[in-house]
Amino acid sequence: MGKRLVSGLDVTLTLLFALVSSLSAGEAETIREVNGEPKSSNSRRFDCHPEAGSDQAKCEARGCIWKPSDVPKGPWCYYPETHGYITNNTVEKTSGITVDIVRNPDFPSQRSQSRDIDKLRVEITYLSGQSLRWKIFDPANARYEVPVPLDLPAAPETEENNRLYRVQIQHKPFGIQVIRKGSEEIIWDSAVPGFTFSDQFLQISTRLPSNYVYGVGETEHPSYSHDLNFHTYGLFAKDQPPGYKLNSYGLHPFYMGLEKSKSAHGVLLLNSNAMDVTVLPDPALTYRTIGGILDFYMMIGRPVLPAYWSLGFQLCRYGYANDTEIADLYKDMKAAEIPYDVQYADIDYMERQMDFTLDQVNFKGLPALVDQMRAEGMRFIFILDPAIAANETKGSYPAFDTGIEKDVFIKWPPELSNDIVWGKVWPDYPNVTVDNSLDWDTQVERFRSFVAFPDFLKNSTAEWWGEQIKDFYNNVIKFDGLWIDMNEPANFVHGTAGEKCLGDQTLENPPYMPPLESIHRGLNHKTICMNSEQILADGTRVKHYDVHNLYGWSHTKPTYDALLSATGKRGVIITRSTYPSSGRWAGHWLGDNYSGWDQLLKSIIGMMEFSIFGISYTGADICGFFNTAEYEMCLRWMQLGAFYPFSRNHNTINMPRQDPVAWGPEFAAVSRDVLNIRYTLLPYLYTLMYEAHAHGNTVVRPLLHEFVTDENTWKIDRQFLWGPALLITPALDPGVTVVRGYVPNARWYDYHTGEVVGVRGQFVDMDTPLSKINLHVRGGHILPWQKAENNTHYSRQNPLGLLVALDDGGSAHGSLFWDDGEGIDTVQNKRFLLTTFTASSGVLTSTVPTDSLAEADRLTLGLVKVWGVTAPVTRVTMSVTGQPDADLTFTYNAEVQELQVDATSQSHSIEKPFTITWNTA
Ligand code: NOJ
Repeated sequence: MGKRLVSGLDVTLTLLFALVSSLSAGEAETIREVNGEPKSSNSRRFDCHPEAGSDQAKCEARGCIWKPSDVPKGPWCYYPETHGYITNNTVEKTSGITVDIVRNPDFPSQRSQSRDIDKLRVEITYLSGQSLRWKIFDPANARYEVPVPLDLPAAPETEENNRLYRVQIQHKPFGIQVIRKGSEEIIWDSAVPGFTFSDQFLQISTRLPSNYVYGVGETEHPSYSHDLNFHTYGLFAKDQPPGYKLNSYGLHPFYMGLEKSKSAHGVLLLNSNAMDVTVLPDPALTYRTIGGILDFYMMIGRPVLPAYWSLGFQLCRYGYANDTEIADLYKDMKAAEIPYDVQYADIDYMERQMDFTLDQVNFKGLPALVDQMRAEGMRFIFILDPAIAANETKGSYPAFDTGIEKDVFIKWPPELSNDIVWGKVWPDYPNVTVDNSLDWDTQVERFRSFVAFPDFLKNSTAEWWGEQIKDFYNNVIKFDGLWIDMNEPANFVHGTAGEKCLGDQTLENPPYMPPLESIHRGLNHKTICMNSEQILADGTRVKHYDVHNLYGWSHTKPTYDALLSATGKRGVIITRSTYPSSGRWAGHWLGDNYSGWDQLLKSIIGMMEFSIFGISYTGADICGFFNTAEYEMCLRWMQLGAFYPFSRNHNTINMPRQDPVAWGPEFAAVSRDVLNIRYTLLPYLYTLMYEAHAHGNTVVRPLLHEFVTDENTWKIDRQFLWGPALLITPALDPGVTVVRGYVPNARWYDYHTGEVVGVRGQFVDMDTPLSKINLHVRGGHILPWQKAENNTHYSRQNPLGLLVALDDGGSAHGSLFWDDGEGIDTVQNKRFLLTTFTASSGVLTSTVPTDSLAEADRLTLGLVKVWGVTAPVTRVTMSVTGQPDADLTFTYNAEVQELQVDATSQSHSIEKPFTITWNTA
């Protein structure tokens, strides 16, 4: 493999640790063994033959031990204790440690077709007090490294006392141990057998500090907290609807682990090759990747701040027949007064599904409809696929012609061919009618035209793509956001159209194949050949084999930049294929789910996983993409989906309608009610989005993020939080009228009534008639709100309300972030308002750390609701510096202990600090 190594198959291992100290709290408590049973020593084995068909001879040929296991699913072929590398030389500096290691010669090669790299260097860098990185690489030959830029601290933390951790090196086998100071827990421990570093097979394992581990994607998981009973998840970006153990659209080699001391840490393996991750009962975790570089970093950038309107409800379907169907839907939604901000058009709007074209027969009226809807405060998002049709007559399809001129398409390595790597995706062949009696492969062969795949890693491609988008906006149709799909990249033929993949077949069928959906069909199944060549911004040539999982990532920033430059607004991008840091530019929907009850729970797990992958703007297709939705399921899903940050009802072609006006007046009424709640709370959701963007906080949160010392929260995935303060307990099963939910240890109020929930730290049964989703507000928090309207253009103009939920001590705090909702870089350019609110001892005050809002975007104070006011209120006054105190009208409800103060009469603009005082009898 000599020469090619330099171009693309070198390997570096770097591990990133972010010690999440905000989760640290509480006294140490022993975490139970797996399933409450003491562990067998067999459960400590690391698998030496993960591929199918292992036997004693094959096992011993690898120098491993063959012995039956009494642990179900436990490996029979496992590594001897000293297998791996041995430490040769260690140099300690204030900024980190450098270690040279050599392969233990007592053991044969693990994969004979994959050349071992016997001498490696390990560089450990103390990135900051909370994070470190380690990188394991070949010091003699440069290898491909992931070209994803990360925000790293400017200088390492050289002061020992400032670091939350220390690092220990183990010698035989070589391993790194990261110890959290304070608890003295070893939170990463790779001093275990099996460490392997060869061209196309790299493996590293770590013992975990507890049985609680979360994350690793993109693949569907049945629970948020992983079942550690020897489960392996293959990871490789693929046009694959989510399903059990199936690798889907993106790659996120990130996990979060809890510690016995009830702290947490996160680990990112920055590698972009096909890989798998196994979780073991030890507890332990094994990564196996098939090349590229393994570079583990600490910062993955902060999520984008989406436009305010993108937090509104959205409607989409694949298969709208024409623009009249969309116009009718809009009319019906308006008549039903269901809040809704965004309408989509899927590939149907295009002429024969070709990007940047408009079907002049069925969607001729679309531009006018878009203009009309936008004039009424609505927004439009169009889909774009990466593959560009290549069979049009020269001169008739500028996207392809200019792409050829600018040489933007993925090609073969020049030594094999000068040609483009052709695939086949949607575009219908002109003048050929579809015959559905034919099988898929034959249809693709006959009806789909050839396509070329833009290489978005190349600078020139980003420019060309931006020009197409701008031209489409200026000359064809207006839009507010873009939806990028099929960017794994998806291909309807395997590898390439009409021929087989050229060149080295070990890239298409590597010596070690992770357990992917396509394990027996090669890596190019439903995508392009791994031996295709792509070109990095600095001109370096890389194999698609190494950068396949970055295709969607590389498609995202150019689309985001183009949207901003075409529209002059920040809008929003939704992308299907993601990689760490994709959240800096886009949100993500969870892909082609189906209309089934189990999908409601899966969507909560998926959202909580993407939250820790740094993508806050997420949600699943409400009511399901494939199959026919059923009334009750769709209704419950509308209630749950009203609390997805990205809230969109989307359906596939040829399925019955499932939008909220398709089911009759009762369904419409329930949808209206729950979306009115969402719209009421949008100022709170938007503030959470700002905090994610500015500080890296999560928006959708598992309960354990807020209550980590409470073991009951560690496995909860049927409930979730918006930020710290709103608890959402949806009904997820058919026929239920009661849902069991956990009420964490705090004072909580029923959102619907304002009453205090009498219990805490307990599971309780909550009534959930068809018309109701359970929502609870946490005492101690102040949530900004606004009265809902048909869309956010109007709701944003209403006065600002405050919901003050007092804690046991009568205090609460909160904040509001507000800007024009769609300006570019308003945070960086400080064109926003930030106010904080504090309530204590009958006094609510605001402070204004940042006030630079344009006049037109200012808000006045409206209704203030205070929950948990225990004594009757006799008088409420408002004071503002430089003005006489004013009496405010109020009502007090003794039964609910709710005070409602109406400040509307004051027309008080909230960028001026104020104090509201209530006197009690
Ligand atoms: C696949 C996407 O996942 C789906 O949402 C979309 O409707 C279809 N492609 C058609 O564009």
